[in-house]
Amino acid sequence: MIETRSEPTFDKGLANTIAAESEMSYIDGVNGVLEYVGIDIDTLARSSTFEETVFLLWRRRLPTTAELEHFNAEIRREYQLPEPLWTTIQQIPATATPMHALRTLVSALAVHDEEADVNTPDANERKAIRLLARTPALIANFDRHRKGKEFVRPDATQDIATSFLTMLNGAPPTETMARALDVCLILHADHGFNASTFAALVTISTLSDMYSAVTTAIGTLKGPLHGGANEAVMRMLEEIGDIDAVEAFVKEKLVRKERVMGFGHRVYKAYDPRATYLKTFAGQLAEDTGNLHLFEMSRAIEKIMHDAVGAKGIHPNVDFYSATTYYSLGLDIDLFTPLFAMSRVAGWAGHCIEYLLDNKLMRPRCDYTGPHGIEYVPIGDR
Ligand code: ACO
Repeated sequence: MIETRSEPTFDKGLANTIAAESEMSYIDGVNGVLEYVGIDIDTLARSSTFEETVFLLWRRRLPTTAELEHFNAEIRREYQLPEPLWTTIQQIPATATPMHALRTLVSALAVHDEEADVNTPDANERKAIRLLARTPALIANFDRHRKGKEFVRPDATQDIATSFLTMLNGAPPTETMARALDVCLILHADHGFNASTFAALVTISTLSDMYSAVTTAIGTLKGPLHGGANEAVMRMLEEIGDIDAVEAFVKEKLVRKERVMGFGHRVYKAYDPRATYLKTFAGQLAEDTGNLHLFEMSRAIEKIMHDAVGAKGIHPNVDFYSATTYYSLGLDIDLFTPLFAMSRVAGWAGHCIEYLLDNKLMRPRCDYTGPHGIEYVPIGDR
């Protein structure tokens, strides 16, 4: 139990502030450990499914077979979008980026949910399931709309990863592809009070609603210092183009004091355990799909970064090798961050429900550094 201080302290970027307690995920940034409800992320990535992981995060225990079947059925029952949403998708310009579209569409879900403003734990869990179940259809079908393709509705016989890829590509994925996406969803599902989760909590702490909280979170995830980094990594790999150009590119960035995307983390000063797993995973997938050059380039970037700034605790984060992984899965670059959102809905919603059990308005202060006692000069005299 952490005591709350009565005197405000200044902590730029809230880097050393613990804003609440949570039983969902544990991060040890010094030793590079991530656990969901006490279970190591590597074990979950190898043994669990995304749906089972969500159950674990939301209920803080693993389900029995019957409970998991029931939970899967609950999710799949909510796959279908409210009918008017299909028209809303069509109304978004095909030139819009998928993250802007997703933020708008998740927000639009609220106006078709009679329970949108009911903040009881039960109603919030039902909304959490709807958000989790419907986000894949929104992302996949916005992509189809912008490419001038017919919509593909979600298939309730499929799990989230399979259904998403079926909608996106218009045909079911191979088992390997579906499992690869499922693992990515597990790895991205929760991560303490990261920027987007914190943003969601600020919103829910005003006793607003789950849709507003998740909409806030999507807008926050989009930035390149957070979830947008996976897209930025891929664009960097494209810009570099060839393994022989890696060294000059990275060194020049460091000399200019620019960020190399996919490196560094607010909490991890050791290797991000999600990146450890994704690195092996990205390598295998890249080889299987003819994208080994991207993986080799990534490894070359990592080596130069390790020699230059590894001692400062700057290592690859989750976004670095997820870029190659998603690219090898055949996903468009601007769908990388929406995929992150599709998974992190689990964390956002879970934290909102948990926080509301003992809610306190999130409201820090700022240190005013402006003048005092300034005379008001009438506009005609200025
Ligand atoms: N490339 C080069 N140098 C870096 C990088 C990087 N990616 N990240 C941090 N540094 C350096 C900074 O220049 C700074 O150096 P200095 O002390 O000599 O001035 C030092 O490391 C500390 O950096 P801060 O910005 O103070 O660390 P902070 O905790 O605020 O930033 C952040 C964390 C934003 C993630 C940062 O590492 C970054 O910008 N990374 C690139 C973007 C990225 O990959 N974001 C995804 C993060 S994971 C996620 O959100 C899912």
